Amino acid sequence: MPSASKLARQHWNQTPLFLSEDERYRIYPWLYEAAEFRRHAGHKVLEVGCGTGCDLLQFALHGANAVGIDITEEHLRLARERVAGTAGVQYEVRYGDGREIPFPDGAFDYVYSHGVMHHSDEPKKIATEILRVLKPGGEFNVHVYAKYSAFTLKKFLRHGRKMALHIENSLEPVHIQLYSAGMLRKVFGVPLRITKYECRPFPRTWPWFEFLPSLLGWYLVAKGRKP
Ligand SMILES: C[S@@+](CC[C@H](N)C(=O)[O-])C[C@H]1O[C@@H](n2cnc3c(N)ncnc32)[C@H](O)[C@@H]1O
Repeated sequence: MPSASKLARQHWNQTPLFLSEDERYRIYPWLYEAAEFRRHAGHKVLEVGCGTGCDLLQFALHGANAVGIDITEEHLRLARERVAGTAGVQYEVRYGDGREIPFPDGAFDYVYSHGVMHHSDEPKKIATEILRVLKPGGEFNVHVYAKYSAFTLKKFLRHGRKMALHIENSLEPVHIQLYSAGMLRKVFGVPLRITKYECRPFPRTWPWFEFLPSLLGWYLVAKGRKP
């Protein structure tokens, strides 16, 4: 059985996930605020699993010194291409595994990661590394797929036990662990503020849509601080 990181690398090297900035924040309208791109001017920000660099670029555009790591070479190439096209931003994109982050203790003010930890079979290692590279008092912001969600239910009803193959951008196999808030708290072992976002099966035109994401949403956003 290939490791989760090997599967992730194979999946995204073969079928890279590239969205323009317009597309990404249209598909995820909640993400700009939830990620707190605007709050880190002058901060050293690390993105774990930066993919093709769309979110990394937003931190850099808002004045952060933004560092992205990832294990998929094709994503790293696309991230460099995307960010390098923007003059005057401070950034670095380099190979790095969230389970063994290639930076010293206390190197960052803020660590961000969207859609990465649920593809790992060693999430505790990633959480420990995130806390290690943060300065004392530094904050992290990690987004994972929710176990209890209308999207999960829809996928399960449609694909049964093969649902994991129908979640990402291609049918290439990839490890997916869905999370409850309790599971996330256990992985990090420090207090977390957890919010649910995004409720895909329901059209936004429904008048009662507003409160559905917090109950049935597909992303759990966990924010915490290094003690
Ligand atoms: C679904 S993509 C998300 C990419 C980006 N964060 C985004 O939202 O577009 C998952 C990314 O996590 C990366 N990844 C998976 N396991 C990783 C690990 N252990 N360390 C660093 N990156 C990892 C993959 O290579 C891939 O680029």
